Formats: sequence, structure tokens, C-alpha cells
Amino acid sequence: MKIKKAILTGGGRATRLRPVTSTMNKHLIPLANKPMIFHAIEKAVNAGVEEIFINTNPGETELQKYIGDGGHWGIKIIFFEQEGGPQGVAHVVKQAEKFIGNDPFLFYLSDNVILGSLKDFVDEFIEGNYDCMLALSQVPDPERFGVPVLDASGKLTDVLEKPATPPNNFAVTGIYLYGPGVFFKAFNNIEKSERGEYEISSIHSDLLKNNFKVGYKEITGWWKDTGKPEDLILASELLLKEIPAENFKIEGTVESGARISGNVRIGVGTTVNKNVTITGPVLIGENCTLEDCIISPNTTLGAGTKIRKAEIKDSIILNKCTIDCDIKLRESIIGSDVLVTKNESGHQKMILGENTLVEL
Ligand code: G1P
Repeated sequence: MKIKKAILTGGGRATRLRPVTSTMNKHLIPLANKPMIFHAIEKAVNAGVEEIFINTNPGETELQKYIGDGGHWGIKIIFFEQEGGPQGVAHVVKQAEKFIGNDPFLFYLSDNVILGSLKDFVDEFIEGNYDCMLALSQVPDPERFGVPVLDASGKLTDVLEKPATPPNNFAVTGIYLYGPGVFFKAFNNIEKSERGEYEISSIHSDLLKNNFKVGYKEITGWWKDTGKPEDLILASELLLKEIPAENFKIEGTVESGARISGNVRIGVGTTVNKNVTITGPVLIGENCTLEDCIISPNTTLGAGTKIRKAEIKDSIILNKCTIDCDIKLRESIIGSDVLVTKNESGHQKMILGENTLVEL
């Protein structure tokens, strides 16, 4: 058996990540200068998946535009709208039944980022002849997740969704494998939870109750978007660490005198003047302009961004921003087309969207 099909999530509202998500699908937020969902697609492709089905909010067009038909990864990608809007992640899978048929599949919540490969997870599922396999990860706050119930011998007996008093410190991550047909059988037995959603944990609970073989594997290096900007910055930091040193290439023009150390990628068309200091890991996109500034570790700059005089560390700066003033930015997320510049009359002027944060 091989896992050739995967369902990935691309919908949802992501209100907690506003204002960045006010104009952008959260799955397109760049982490390590790549849309979040691209990381999920790559994990699936590296595990052998050849066809990916992505659910979208009604009317979505951006995801399709960025992701395309999968040719970029040598696979096929098909989008489908979730009828009736968001009704829980188990409902997303149910809606993809027509694509999955009776094949085994990977289900991946695209706001989950993992380091390393899914290969061991898939191999264990196949070799152990499982009906379903869950990826677990230890967390300090299991009450925010699906939590496995394990007996004294470590056997999985149930899965609880966001329990007030979790029985252990494991979270069921958003990465699941299912054997032929089992998911859809279980879906017929479950009902919406109190929060009005078809819970993925109800599926697992039902499979266990009906004696299907549900296994688990602990994974490390897992991160999930929890809606806080700090979390995105942490994910970006983890992913930057994972990029092999040989992939940090300097393809732009760097004046002599500029101090560049550590793993630094500088995109095509970018210019860096002699008064710039960059300390990696740092990713700088294409066609950026950097003058008289300091770019410190765990920073990513999107394409077409201009930085002058500023000092930036632990931050995600999207495309086409201009930051042109003596400012020290830390742990910041700046959306596309933002202008931060000096007000010559000596006061501060701000034109900010809903849910914006400014700390002066
Ligand atoms: C969902 C699942 C939960 C799982 C989590 C992992 O939660 O319901 O069991 O632990 O994803 O990402 P949600 O993010 O929808 O609250």
C-alpha cells in the first residue's frame, strides 16, 4: 500500500491573526519566505503523495492563484469549496469523499508545521497495517488540542477534544493517516459537538470504540498556529534552522564593506550597500533594497522590500514594505505594502487598520 492522496485544509477565518489575515488567507502567510501551506504541500509530496485536495472558503481565489495546479511540485492539486461554510475539520474530509473513494489518505491541517519528514510516520502506518494513525506531540497546554487517552500499557483507548482536565501532556497534532474507507464509515456515526463542529476527535473515538486499529507516533519539532504573532515568529525561526546551509545563496549585489555572517540568503535583484550588517539565519527576498541597516537573526524580508537605517531582529516582513527610519524592530510582523518612515515635523502619524498593534 502507498499513500498517494492527501487532503489539506485551506479554509477557516483566522480572526486571531488579524490584521495580517484581514486581507490574506492565513495559509498564505509566509514562513521562511514561503506561504505556510507550501510547507504542508512539500511534506506531503516528500512522503510520496501524488494528488492533493485542498478545501477553500467560498469565493476564495488567492490560494488557487498562489498554489496553482501542483505542476510546480510534479503532482496534481484540486481545490474544493466547503459547502455550507466551516463545520469542523472532519466535515472537510467528508466533503472530499468523492476524490478519495476507497483509497488510503493523509489528512493535514495546513496550519501545522513540522520539522523533519513524514516518512517514518507513513512507513509505520503501512507496515503496522493500521486503519488510522495519529501524530502526537508533547505540549504545555494540551487542553487546547485533541488529547489521547492511553492505558497503563500505552495503548490508545480514546481521544478527547479540548478536555478541561487533560489526562496527559500529549496533543493530537493535525496530521492523520487513514486506511481505505474507515473515515467515512466513522463519519456516519458522529454528531456535531457543542461548538457546532464535526470534530476529528469524534472520528478517532468512534474508530477506537469499534475496534479499528488506531496507532500513534510521537513527533518532535511540531508547531501549530495558535493565533498569536509570537507563534508565527517561533515557527519561522524553527523553519530557518531547518534550511540546509547550501540553500542560503547570495544572488543579489552586495557592496564590499557590508558585513554578512551566518546563513544568509539574498535574492536576485536585491542590493545591499556597504553600511549593512546581516547576521543569519536571515532570508531576504528578490528585488529588495537594504541601506545603512542591521538585519539580525530570524528575520525574513519579502520581495521588493526596502530597509534604510532600521535594525530588525526576529521579525517577518512581507512584500513591498518600506521601513525608512531609525527604528529597532523586534518580534514584529509587517504585512505587505506597509510604509514606516520618519515624520519630519517631529510627531508620530499613524494610519492603522483594525486589530493593529503598535508599541512605541
Ligand atoms: C484541531 C483539532 C484538534 C487538533 C488540532 C491540531 O483543532 O480539532 O483535535 O489537536 O486541530 O492542529 P482546531 O485547531 O480546529 O481548534
